[in-house]
Amino acid sequence: MKRYLQLLILPAIYILTLALSGCENKTKIGFLMDNTNLERWKKDKELFEKTSRELGASVVIKVADSDPDLQYQQAQEVIDEGVDVIVLIPCDITKAGKIVKLAHANNIPVISYDRLIKNSNVDYYISTDNIHVGELQADYLSKISPVGNYALISGPTTDNNAFLLHLGWMNVLQPLIDKGDIKIVVDKYTDFWLPDESYKIMKEFFDNGGKVDAILCGNDALATGAILALKEFGYDGRVLVAGQDADINAIRNIVAGTQTITIYKPIESLVYAAIDAAKKLANGKAPSNMNITVNNGKRLVPAILLKPQVVNRHNIKMTVISEGFINESEIKK
Ligand code: BGC
Repeated sequence: MKRYLQLLILPAIYILTLALSGCENKTKIGFLMDNTNLERWKKDKELFEKTSRELGASVVIKVADSDPDLQYQQAQEVIDEGVDVIVLIPCDITKAGKIVKLAHANNIPVISYDRLIKNSNVDYYISTDNIHVGELQADYLSKISPVGNYALISGPTTDNNAFLLHLGWMNVLQPLIDKGDIKIVVDKYTDFWLPDESYKIMKEFFDNGGKVDAILCGNDALATGAILALKEFGYDGRVLVAGQDADINAIRNIVAGTQTITIYKPIESLVYAAIDAAKKLANGKAPSNMNITVNNGKRLVPAILLKPQVVNRHNIKMTVISEGFINESEIKK
């Protein structure tokens, strides 16, 4: 009897699945990445490949090694390969407008991923609330040290997120600056999001006799460089440092006491949201789960902004480990 049921039910399920999947074409996504220098982007890349497979989409990934002209060429390449949608991490937030134009000329929608493409008709924007990332960092450090000298090291001006983080920092710090409690002693944008840059800035500052109580960094790579300079001058562990990305190295520094916090961003959800939206677009539907609009200088771009979370030495297990973002055994290596 059981066998008889199996014979009937299994083909029925198969036919139903075929019928349902027949309603949608397999989406082909072009995922254009700035670079994969940092642990964070390696995770985005792996998750994009894995989640595309799981959601039944195919993906062509190109990495531009931080070169906006190469990224433009790669956009042309994925268009030639017949993608339905482009998901773009721009190397340069203004130059990427050309890519949006090129894609639109070929009737291909563009989703701005993690970084907003400015002054363009980009279709959707999927990211974390980057102003809030900055607010969380500044709020945490200024609760511990409400008085003192602060250094601000943002990322490059070719990345909108560097400005948004700075905005978040100032939202929190300005009232304390106005009261005369906090003094900004360093306020710099870097050329790249790399440790070398923040190391040089902080080294020069200390070489000139500067004193600092807290350093707000645009990401964990910049925090790593700042910590290196602190170590050289014997200040490590005595100065508050904030970064973002929850890189394994930052988690180790937090455990060691040389970094105060990092910010964890839900990359898995980011990837899922981008692929889900791409699939809908490719099938002529509007993505329904946009929760906000963001002005990019040209239009109000429908967006999804996910929630960031603070990671400190007390909540590592409850955040990045329980989310499966980091393996506990990795920390001790
Ligand atoms: C991202 C950060 C990342 C940085 C460097 C920013 O746009 O939001 O997570 O660390 O780029 O690649």
